[in-house]
Amino acid sequence: MADDQEKELAARASLEFVRDGDVVGLGTGSTAAYAVRFLGERVRAGLKIRGIPTSVQTQNLAASLGIPLTTLEEVQQIDVTIDGADEFDPELRLIKGAGGALLREKIVASATRSEIIIVDSSKQVPVLGKSPLPVEVIQFAQALVSRKISSLGAAVQLKRDRAGEPFVTDEGNHILECDFGRIPDPELLARTLSDMPGVVEHGLFINLASVVLMGIAGEVVEVRRRSKPIP
Ligand code: 5RP
Repeated sequence: MADDQEKELAARASLEFVRDGDVVGLGTGSTAAYAVRFLGERVRAGLKIRGIPTSVQTQNLAASLGIPLTTLEEVQQIDVTIDGADEFDPELRLIKGAGGALLREKIVASATRSEIIIVDSSKQVPVLGKSPLPVEVIQFAQALVSRKISSLGAAVQLKRDRAGEPFVTDEGNHILECDFGRIPDPELLARTLSDMPGVVEHGLFINLASVVLMGIAGEVVEVRRRSKPIP
């Protein structure tokens, strides 16, 4: 069960990784929104940062809090990104994208020096696959890609919005929610999906997270990888 107090604790702890002058990637989702709000408080108290939002939703939130924003045209390197996740395993491989922002989230993560993942304790898994894997597809290829992913053994559903209409991402694409069950080899699945024409991006984040901050029972546990390649 998602726990709001655990999310809030993890989000607050993530601010330790932000320095004056940093370019900060701003994640999407309820946990990342806590971090954006806390950053807004720090900015009002004098912290100088520039944010790169991972979705229109986060862009609106950050702007409403007075956080100065920048773009990937203006900066090549993001110092630190704070984002949530749907699952993480012991290798800090992630499933992301339940909020529908996986494409911009992965682009921002790929340009980030320190990717800080903030989660509640329900997100820790021994093996990825507890939740469906979101796969962003161009609308033209949706049926074709859906059949191909089904043939890999997944139960595939089109992501829908609250009104029951197909969910449309910030980049104008659709999302297939693919339930594979346990994913024993995330690297192989990631390569297989990336090789399918029509797939724009998938929610497997491999070799991207630098640290996971997990709120659990009133504390924050820090889980680290040994190194993250600098893009
Ligand atoms: C959005 C994401 C979110 O970070 C992920 O779904 C976690 O969300 P929440 O913090 O609300 O549990 O990847 O695309």
